[in-house]
Amino acid sequence: MNLEPYLTSDGSYTLINKETNCAYHSLHGAVTEGKVVFINYGLNYAFEKFGSSINLLEVGFGAGLHTYLTLLEASNTKQNVFCTSIEINPVQLKICEQLNYEDLTKDINLKLNYKDLINAEWNKTTQLNNYFSIQKLLTNIYNFEYILPYHVVYYSGFSHTATPEVWEKEIFEKMFKHLPIGACVVTHCAKGVYKRMLKEVGFTVETLKGPPRKNEVTRAIKI
Ligand SMILES: C[S@@+](CC[C@H](N)C(=O)[O-])C[C@H]1O[C@@H](n2cnc3c(N)ncnc32)[C@H](O)[C@@H]1O
Repeated sequence: MNLEPYLTSDGSYTLINKETNCAYHSLHGAVTEGKVVFINYGLNYAFEKFGSSINLLEVGFGAGLHTYLTLLEASNTKQNVFCTSIEINPVQLKICEQLNYEDLTKDINLKLNYKDLINAEWNKTTQLNNYFSIQKLLTNIYNFEYILPYHVVYYSGFSHTATPEVWEKEIFEKMFKHLPIGACVVTHCAKGVYKRMLKEVGFTVETLKGPPRKNEVTRAIKI
């Protein structure tokens, strides 16, 4: 993978794959997008719905930004998250180390940092502090077996144009079957065709206001 850090509009970095031109986050603010779509619409929704101890599934660990924001939110609000994050093509540590996500903890009295998260071993469970444990799994979403009841899913694989294979209906049929009632899936994707697909498999689909320069994002709930 030919990945390069790229400074986005809110001062946080993303990664761009120079071969495919795919960005890992919004160029209009990587951290801003993560907070709006995944923390506010996903994590905090699940805390409200299920209480202060939840299971999270992330599809696409990528640079670990969304899990890092989750670690910070859980620790700051003293709520518990068990996170399973899956990935088929991990980003090299030396690339992650060039990102400025540690700046997010500058004002926070946290002993953990971004490096602890990206250094957590694959295919093992690591407890990063009293509030957050992570199981990073090297697997394809296709082969993923649901063992835990996940209260929230961050669907942050690449876009449907870059990776149509992560937008196949059977992935969402399997997901719907295994999620508990009340669980939600949040994604930056707001394409009509995928919202209809989520409805067809049984989800109730909400269109929510997106982060800067993105009108809409999607939350699908199993009611
Ligand atoms: C947009 S990036 C994820 C950004 C990440 N959530 C973060 O916070 O940095 C998409 C990730 O999904 C991974 N991915 C793509 N197809 C996948 C699949 N079929 N199963 C699991 N992960 C996949 C890619 O390798 C890539 O790292």
